[in-house]
Amino acid sequence: MNKDSKIYVAGHRGMVGSAIMRELQRQGYNNIITRTHAELDLCRQDQVEAFFAEEKPEYVFLCAAKVGGIIANQSSLADFMYDNMMLEMNVIHAAWQNGCKKLEFLGSSCIYPRLAPQPMPESCLLTSALEPTNEAYALAKISGLKYCEYLNRQYGTDYISLMPTNLYGPNDNYHPEHSHVLPALIRRFHEAKEAGLTEVTCWGDGTPMREFLYVDDLANLCVFLMNNYSGNETVNAGTGKEVSIKTLTELVAKVVGYEGKILWDTTRPNGTPRKLLDVSKAAALGWTYKTELEEGIRLAYDDFLNNPMRAER
Ligand SMILES: NC(=O)c1ccc[n+]([C@@H]2O[C@H](COP(=O)([O-])OP(=O)(O)OC[C@H]3O[C@@H](n4cnc5c(N)ncnc54)[C@H](OP(=O)(O)O)[C@@H]3O)[C@@H](O)[C@H]2O)c1
Repeated sequence: MNKDSKIYVAGHRGMVGSAIMRELQRQGYNNIITRTHAELDLCRQDQVEAFFAEEKPEYVFLCAAKVGGIIANQSSLADFMYDNMMLEMNVIHAAWQNGCKKLEFLGSSCIYPRLAPQPMPESCLLTSALEPTNEAYALAKISGLKYCEYLNRQYGTDYISLMPTNLYGPNDNYHPEHSHVLPALIRRFHEAKEAGLTEVTCWGDGTPMREFLYVDDLANLCVFLMNNYSGNETVNAGTGKEVSIKTLTELVAKVVGYEGKILWDTTRPNGTPRKLLDVSKAAALGWTYKTELEEGIRLAYDDFLNNPMRAER
């Protein structure tokens, strides 16, 4: 990308999209175009076609998506499949039809099989069954990355995809039912501290191991890959480091300043014991993350405190 290349960031008000906006601006890119959801519904083919025909962006970061935690995913299976499938097909197809030079599609590590080897390499895609709780979302994301690959193979485009691990940071979703584990913990401990509670009960026994990437590091990788990677195989985006949910919980409590007890409700499910990405491909390309977990949680909590609109999402 040149500094004056026309770049469209789809989903620029989301957590990932807003981080990509910050990173592009930090690096001096000065011709970025955006549309809010209200201005352009990406699920509507006619609107997407008209937008691309008029604007003809040279580069596209596709980070708009219908996103949610396990409850949202399970209760809205059909919506998760329909919205994500429509949105990504419309955008990728219109980009290709209008001569977009390069497109980057954001997926998620949940595209990999439930029983994938740990850490999960890119090559384990479609080797066995998916985790049933997010199958609809994963199938839509797999279709998006495969559509990029098929356009490359049939029409010689240069469309790439990357699959991030769990993300957190500014503009996260803190909704009590629709959020992911880390923002949910920030909100719970913050509210417990405010209410002077002496104990907080968490689900499971705290043993599952998970990986977390600060969203500004992801944005740095997104821009890096746009400039430095071409290929049909996706690229994993993570730290390659894992932490137990118990350690994560204690870290969030410490950062938030909650001093009460943490109890574990072992009648609740733990989820997959381990979920870690193999990040050797990104490392071989010359990229690594910068923000360690505790520092990232501090930055995220600052954003939570100073961004009341987001805290109500
Ligand atoms: N968050 C994570 O932990 C995580 C982990 C791995 C991968 N990812 C991937 O990263 C990408 C972005 O996630 P995120 O966390 O940034 O999500 P987010 O904060 O919910 O942002 C998604 C954005 O997409 C927009 N959008 C959704 N449907 C749209 C539509 N039909 N038309 C126009 N805009 C629409 C949303 O606008 P409205 O809010 O106005 O609807 C929002 O601005 C997704 O592909 C996701 O799979 C996220």
